[in-house]
Amino acid sequence: MTLTPQVGIIMGSASDWPIMEHAARTLRDFGIPWEAEIASAHRSLDKLTGYASGARGRGLKCIIAGAGAAAHLAGVTAALTDIPILGVPIDATSLKGMDALLAMVQMPGGIPVATFAIGKAGAVNAALFAVAMIANENPEIAGKLADFRKKQSDKVKAAVLPPLDPMD
Ligand code: RP5
Repeated sequence: MTLTPQVGIIMGSASDWPIMEHAARTLRDFGIPWEAEIASAHRSLDKLTGYASGARGRGLKCIIAGAGAAAHLAGVTAALTDIPILGVPIDATSLKGMDALLAMVQMPGGIPVATFAIGKAGAVNAALFAVAMIANENPEIAGKLADFRKKQSDKVKAAVLPPLDPMD
């Protein structure tokens, strides 16, 4: 049985996948159907336009968009659809992702992009944010999210610091 994807993951280049796969892994762990595509705002605008403009009709609840450098992908996608766009800045240039972060977070008023941390933490958190949105309407996913949060908390509380080295 193929389930209809609820979350779309897009990225400007295949080079973004080592970061964006962490969003996919997180969604997979919660059992949320997802899809991933390479769709660039400047290299394949026609593909991005078709993808984003049909997103709501195909049942996507939100789109996670990862891009580096000038990173207009998330903003252009947000202009093409009114489902939530979650932006993940990628460290792809000598500016270490600050370029992408500012491009996403500084969207002019009217077309929002919810912007997450640069890199892996951002990809994971964008997916967890999508999980939380879906949990609002889905008690099973809400239960999984509560379990995840509890396990994470228990792990931190159980962590033990190593003793000092007596020879040091
Ligand atoms: C952006 O330019 C992509 O999202 C990627 O992060 C960056 C570099 O792309 P490649 O030159 O590696 O394809 O559009």
